[in-house]
Amino acid sequence: MIISASTDYRVAAQRRLPPFLFHYIDGGAYAEHTLRRNVSDLSDIALRQRVLRNMSALSLETRLFNETLSMPVVLAPIGLCGMFARRGEAQAAKAAADKGIPFTLSTVSVCPIEEVAPAIQRPMWFQLYVLKDRGFMKNALERAKSAGVTTLVFTVDMPVPGARYRDAHSGMSGPNAPLRRILQACTHPRWAMDVGLLGRPHDLGNISTYRGHPTGLADYIGWLGANFDPSISWKDLEWIREFWDGPMVIKGILDPQDAKDAVSFGANGIVVSNHGGRQLDGVLSSARAMPAIADAVKGQLAILADSGIRTGLDVVRMIALGADTVMLGRAFVYALAAAGGAGVSNLLDLIEKEMRVAMVLTGAKSISEINGDSLVRELKHA
Ligand code: FNR
Repeated sequence: MIISASTDYRVAAQRRLPPFLFHYIDGGAYAEHTLRRNVSDLSDIALRQRVLRNMSALSLETRLFNETLSMPVVLAPIGLCGMFARRGEAQAAKAAADKGIPFTLSTVSVCPIEEVAPAIQRPMWFQLYVLKDRGFMKNALERAKSAGVTTLVFTVDMPVPGARYRDAHSGMSGPNAPLRRILQACTHPRWAMDVGLLGRPHDLGNISTYRGHPTGLADYIGWLGANFDPSISWKDLEWIREFWDGPMVIKGILDPQDAKDAVSFGANGIVVSNHGGRQLDGVLSSARAMPAIADAVKGQLAILADSGIRTGLDVVRMIALGADTVMLGRAFVYALAAAGGAGVSNLLDLIEKEMRVAMVLTGAKSISEINGDSLVRELKHA
């Protein structure tokens, strides 16, 4: 068991949420080997302690796509955040903006683009899946543009949904899902009131706006299931480029050749990611995939990374392995589910403090000074 702020928030989230929602957040694909390895491979990496180097002036600031970030952290796109806390996406986005870092709104958010973007003081990022319904994609891109979204995160590791057995057991997916969900929600009245689920239909903001009517969970799961597109290829990204001229980041890269192809395509960035172990169980953890990818493309585009990052020390480790910036997934979601926007703010403050301690004691005065030398050499490839 790793002790960290996110593990505390995880326990609190489990107490608060109905089981089907907690397991939707917490679970991964199949036997969850990759999910566990994401966390354990990172925490196994030994940081190299250095001392007596006058570390009084420290800067965590970094630049990415013409934005200044107070630290090299972005909140990852997470579907259904508005079911974990009332207007959850807006709360998390505000916490991120207050901290000076970007928030990425998921395609399948509860709060629509038009609600979240104006609620924060900095430009938002937006994540898009490749879906069969190209009308939806075009519409979402136009709406993102007019809401002032700066960066598009294009998630490519979901041409098919991964098999998530916890969701099947809990009633989040499967034939009896809607009935079981209602029964479970009724056993947690405090949660149901808090997310505003009682007394009004639940709405999947971006999708409902496009379809012109409220989209409840069961309807949404059906629509999304029918819309995954296994035919997706680099050609589809060319199509997107016609509608999007801002920075474009490809999320779900785990192989150096795919990273090189992203460079050839002209992507501005990649996210080294296995979707938090939620897609293909048995693939490499992001920490293990990172060194070869960094060798292949470092400096040619921005390298972001997620999957398994739970602490500020993990942020430093992932940057030392080759990432420029990281994304936080479950770490912030547990905090949001446990304590709303205040929980996310607190978690981000703790991540920053942990990063500061790690930087002082590895002798890195700035983010660009975190590199392979920050790790004990024989262990740095996990
Ligand atoms: C996700 N992830 C995800 N990714 C994406 O591109 N669009 C999405 O809508 C979602 N939704 C989503 C929901 C939940 C509950 C989780 C946990 C994850 C993947 C996410 O962006 C990120 O890649 C992982 O969460 C990173 O792994 P860790 O940090 O959670 O281990």
